[in-house]
Amino acid sequence: MARAWGKSLLVFAFYGGLAAAQPGRGELLYSTYCSGCHTEQVHWRDRKVATDWPGLVAEVGRWQANAGLDWNRDDVEAVAHYLNDLYYHYK
Ligand code: HEC
Repeated sequence: MARAWGKSLLVFAFYGGLAAAQPGRGELLYSTYCSGCHTEQVHWRDRKVATDWPGLVAEVGRWQANAGLDWNRDDVEAVAHYLNDLYYHYK
């Protein structure tokens, strides 16, 4: 019961995000599809792969392709924005 409620809430939030492109969307996509595999430490380590904003967008694009997610440009940028706000702070 509680579990079914949690799931419908997630689906609701997800489609709400798709319709409105709200700020929480990148976070939702990332936490749903990406964070299971790497901890947040991946984004602070010294030897970063993403060294600027285009590099970060490219990296997010590469990872979603690896995971077979077929995100569009908006999805990729939403997640890149989320990670940028949290960890990278590129222009
Ligand atoms: C199969 C496990 C796995 C999944 C799933 C995964 N990642 Fe990663 N990710 C890694 C590993 C391991 C690294 C570090 C390895 C490297 O240097 O490329 C990494 C590195 C990254 C980096 C570069 C960090 C930096 O600055 O050095 C970004 C950005 C990233 N992942 C984004 C994502 C996004 C977005 C998703 C979801 C679409 C995702 N990842 C899903 C394992 C994963």
